[in-house]
Amino acid sequence: MLTSFPADELYRQADRVRLEAVGNEVHLRGLIEFSNICRNDCLYCGLRRGNEKVKRYHMTEEEIIETATKAAEIGFETIVLQSGEDLYYNTKRMCRIIKEIKKLDVAVTLSIGERSPDEYKAFREAGADRYLMRIETTDRDLYHKLNPGMSWQHRYECLMTIKELGYELGSGIMVGLPGQTIESIADDLMFLKEIGVDMAGIGPFIPHQEPPLANEGGGNLELALRTMAAMRLLMPDINIPATTAMESLHPQGRIMALKAGANVVMPNVTEGEYRKLYALYPGKICVNDTPVHCRSCIGMKIQAIGRTIGKGKGSHRVLKVGSIN
Ligand code: 5AD
Ligand code: FES
Repeated sequence: MLTSFPADELYRQADRVRLEAVGNEVHLRGLIEFSNICRNDCLYCGLRRGNEKVKRYHMTEEEIIETATKAAEIGFETIVLQSGEDLYYNTKRMCRIIKEIKKLDVAVTLSIGERSPDEYKAFREAGADRYLMRIETTDRDLYHKLNPGMSWQHRYECLMTIKELGYELGSGIMVGLPGQTIESIADDLMFLKEIGVDMAGIGPFIPHQEPPLANEGGGNLELALRTMAAMRLLMPDINIPATTAMESLHPQGRIMALKAGANVVMPNVTEGEYRKLYALYPGKICVNDTPVHCRSCIGMKIQAIGRTIGKGKGSHRVLKVGSIN
């Protein structure tokens, strides 16, 4: 399915399953990239500690809350707070921010990497609803090569803790990593199903211009779309984003994804210079745009393909105990 099955047919099936299981709505999440400081050194990532060419920033608490307020005003009902692993945002600071943003009557998703169980618990108690952390790959050896100093097992345990705490769990992978095999991508999909993700983000790897992976071939859009479509067939009713990395490889990448199984888009609502500085990979889209522009641009694209903008928070677990919707 990932390589030889006709792509068009695979996308059609994923689109049909998406329609049956989650309907025609596309849920929008406003993404705030509040710090590009990171203690890790993931070889693929433009924000890696070792990349000295990046001008580092973190937004102040007030800036983050103001950005979230504006995003809520233009209609976002989920705010995603994403950053590098920046410990300046300790438990106290994060909890203050979460509590303030929750006053806006939005769902709050955190995407701030590996923390202790106590911190995950505190964030949850402060009101965070969802947590997003990609496993990146289930090939342990590849993971350890690409993420020096990190432990796959530890990341897995973080995901389990997050799930036990009652967060909606988002995870995912990159496709096309150097040394990654098709078999291991198939294992990744089975892993995401096994741990019961509520959301699965699948994006192509895009080589950064800075060493050490600058000269590697990147992932291709077709393999990423195929993987995403297969994910939809495996887990019909979860949330699946049309990822920014897909659109960075093709001007219609997110629309192609929405027609091949995706039902979520995460427009960037970060303001000003910060948008440019959060450079995970080269060619990232929308770095010179504004939140209002991106919201209306993607809104029009979604409507142009006959889909509607989701109303409500777009939770996966609407029917389950502990629902937030
Ligand atoms: N290409 C594509 N995706 C990347 N990410 C990090 N670096 C790259 C890259 N070079 C993804 C990782 C991470 C998410 C925030 O961005 O999967 O979890
Ligand atoms: Fe921080 Fe990659 S170096 S996420």
